[in-house]
Amino acid sequence: MNVPSAEYSRSAASSLDVDGVVVDFQGLRAIEDVSLTLEPGEILGLIGPNGAGKTTLINVLTGFQTVMRGSVRLGGIDIAAWKPHERSRRGLVRTFQSVLPFGGLSVLENVEAGGVAIGLGRREARIEAARILSEIGLAAKADRRADTLPFGDVRLTGIARAIAMRPRFLLMDEPAAGLNDVECNELHNIIKGIIARLGCGILFIEHRMSLVFRLCDRIQVLQLGRTLAIGTAGEIQNDAQVRRAYLGEEAAC
Ligand SMILES: Nc1ncnc2c1ncn2[C@@H]1O[C@H](COP(=O)(O)OP(=O)(O)O)[C@@H](O)[C@H]1O
Ligand SMILES: [Mg+2]
Repeated sequence: MNVPSAEYSRSAASSLDVDGVVVDFQGLRAIEDVSLTLEPGEILGLIGPNGAGKTTLINVLTGFQTVMRGSVRLGGIDIAAWKPHERSRRGLVRTFQSVLPFGGLSVLENVEAGGVAIGLGRREARIEAARILSEIGLAAKADRRADTLPFGDVRLTGIARAIAMRPRFLLMDEPAAGLNDVECNELHNIIKGIIARLGCGILFIEHRMSLVFRLCDRIQVLQLGRTLAIGTAGEIQNDAQVRRAYLGEEAAC
């Protein structure tokens, strides 16, 4: 199959639109009619209790999970037929909570692999990787083996690799899980930097509410596979249903 270049995708893509998505797992309805829209430059928080369907939605967006109903459009184009690697090449990039596939490689090589995955030549990918590592404060550890790093740096390396894939939309699944307060602050600044430099949209799944409220332009709340509310941080904090379903137990985080 002819994979369109990343350049093509960036000029064509504007918003990311999920419309009426339904996902079943052997009779269990994990997602029931969820829709969302994400614009370039926007951070949309996706919150909700464990099992609400947040990660499943990321899997739908990245092409690892098929849907029973509904559609995903990137820049107005239905992407149902796009394979996972086509989606990442065209700018739909995710970060993982803890997975770093190349533990035996250096930090720099891991980030370089992101550029190579979207079709950059080795040299260009390496230069770009070094620049990204400087930007996020990991340059001094560029030559360290990834599997010798402390947890927070592993997380940052994964984020650096995602940036190297030049996301149009970056899908972040619990990026602050396990980070301490200092690292959490760093993450906040890094995400602001990504938006400023790449202008990409970010889907931000996170339980750490202080970070969600500080970062997100809008927040969408899922519960048992359905959208419970969408609004600004202020609106979500004051929503009685959301407080009952989720924030009551989490607001102190
Ligand atoms: N591969 C799978 N097979 C069966 N059930 C799954 C699978 N993945 C997720 N689920 C179920 O789907 C629901 C949503 O899960 P998930 O998307 O992981 O929620 P969240 O990320 O919000 O915690 C849960 O009930 C979960 O047990
Ligand atoms: Mg999850």
